[in-house]
Amino acid sequence: MALFHCSLLSCYAFFVLALSLLQSPLVHGRETESRHVVSVRSLLPGSVCSSPRDSNPFMLKVVHRHGPCSPLTPGQKPDYTELLSQDQARVNWLHHWISTSSNQKSTRASLAANIPASSGGSIGTGNYVVNVGFGTPTKEFTVVFDTGSDLTWIQCSPCRSCYPQQQQLFDPSRSSTYSNISCNSPKCSQLDSSSCLAGRCRYEVDYGDKSQSEGFFGSDTLTLTPSDVLPNFLFGCGDQNKGLFGQAAGLLGLGRQPVSLVSQLKSKYGGVFSYCLPSTSSSSGYLKLGGGAPSNVNFTPMRASSSQPSFYFLDLVAIEVGGKQLPISQTVFSNAGTLLDSGTVITRLPPSAYAALRSRFRQLMTMYKMAPPQSILDTCYDFTGNDTVSVPTVALVFGGGATLNVDFTGILYVFNMSQACLAFAGNDDASDVGIIGNVQQKRFDVVYDITNSRIGFGANGCS
Ligand SMILES: *[C@@H]1O[C@H](CO)[C@@H](O)[C@H](O)[C@H]1NC(C)=O
Ligand SMILES: *[C@@H]1O[C@H](CO)[C@@H](O)[C@H](O)[C@H]1NC(C)=O
Ligand SMILES: *[C@@H]1O[C@H](CO)[C@@H](O)[C@H](O)[C@H]1NC(C)=O
Repeated sequence: MALFHCSLLSCYAFFVLALSLLQSPLVHGRETESRHVVSVRSLLPGSVCSSPRDSNPFMLKVVHRHGPCSPLTPGQKPDYTELLSQDQARVNWLHHWISTSSNQKSTRASLAANIPASSGGSIGTGNYVVNVGFGTPTKEFTVVFDTGSDLTWIQCSPCRSCYPQQQQLFDPSRSSTYSNISCNSPKCSQLDSSSCLAGRCRYEVDYGDKSQSEGFFGSDTLTLTPSDVLPNFLFGCGDQNKGLFGQAAGLLGLGRQPVSLVSQLKSKYGGVFSYCLPSTSSSSGYLKLGGGAPSNVNFTPMRASSSQPSFYFLDLVAIEVGGKQLPISQTVFSNAGTLLDSGTVITRLPPSAYAALRSRFRQLMTMYKMAPPQSILDTCYDFTGNDTVSVPTVALVFGGGATLNVDFTGILYVFNMSQACLAFAGNDDASDVGIIGNVQQKRFDVVYDITNSRIGFGANGCS
């Protein structure tokens, strides 16, 4: 690891990271529970990117959209309140989307109205980005990657309406390998929503909070890594785009419908992809297509919904706090269902499951002073003056025995020393789908094996 060639700063980061891996049993009352003992300061956003520029040539480097490793506005700090409210907008969109298609239209109609109209960026802000190349000669673009949608698109020139982005727009007329898809091509009918203009196929995607992308459906060479150059990749060349998308050039769709990156490249990569989301905005993770899973990965069945074919579902069956299982009936989880999403930040649980988690967590944290709630997070602590803190472990247990022992950085969302909050929230309604968000996935190899219908988690995939 970084141990052998590190600057003072990254050595320090490594040291605190090693500390955070310690799970020490502490005696508290009569029980012994498992806890993380960690330096709080290590969880504050860093200011230097500690990830090497030239990473593994076979993988895409994944970085947080904010922070020193991001190619987009590096150094700009996110507005947390806005970030969390945009996260809620995405969750409302997912809940609305999933319930409308499972015949609950009438009871759910009101939810759509709750989506904040001004945010325009529920995809992007709390998200992770990768660099990919389009066209010949290839031009590099920073895109948000999203397991919750299918179509890959980038903003293109000439553009009728584009949101501001960091890089120059992609100009298909300057790529020798670009071609438009015609309306009568079967490729055009793979789209959820298409139209026809002068014989050319146009796509439209809406993300529920008024952010959307519209444009010509085309194909061109996609360069993922120097060894993954993929001709005739189908994508959207957006000329009417709304939303902020975090100043990214577009979106990489990793859902499971035919038009997604994974589906298009199924014959080459066997329907497998994996990623690891870094624990801090100053480190990097990876996104990898194909390849075998690391040996420490534990699998749980991948579930599908015929009415929601884009999304990856799985069976959450139990939650452990401090090493002990919470008294939650399995039907609480199975009635709601659970979605694994790279684009949601904070994990959402059925209301009674969240209540049980919160209550146990608070019981085991009584030695710390509580701090005011922050947005959707209602269990916060003030660690001012504490060098190290001791926090109960949290584990999500999935069907088949796969367990995600949430990394310390996925248990508390640390805004600053005086406000660190339990990084989980409850859904409003017991029938709303539970969502495993990206904060809880940090540092795990998350393997999507569509061919064998399984999802795997392996610890210590990245730093
Ligand atoms: C694709 O369609 C657009 C819009 O009609 C057109 O301007 C462009 O020349 C076409 N590109 C190619 C390579 O055919
Ligand atoms: C740090 O945490 C402990 C609980 O373990 C608490 O009792 C103590 O007062 C805290 N220290 C400071 C300086 O706030
Ligand atoms: C950070 O700390 C200050 C107090 O020093 C507090 O008022 C503020 O709300 C905290 N949280 C965030 C998200 O900035």
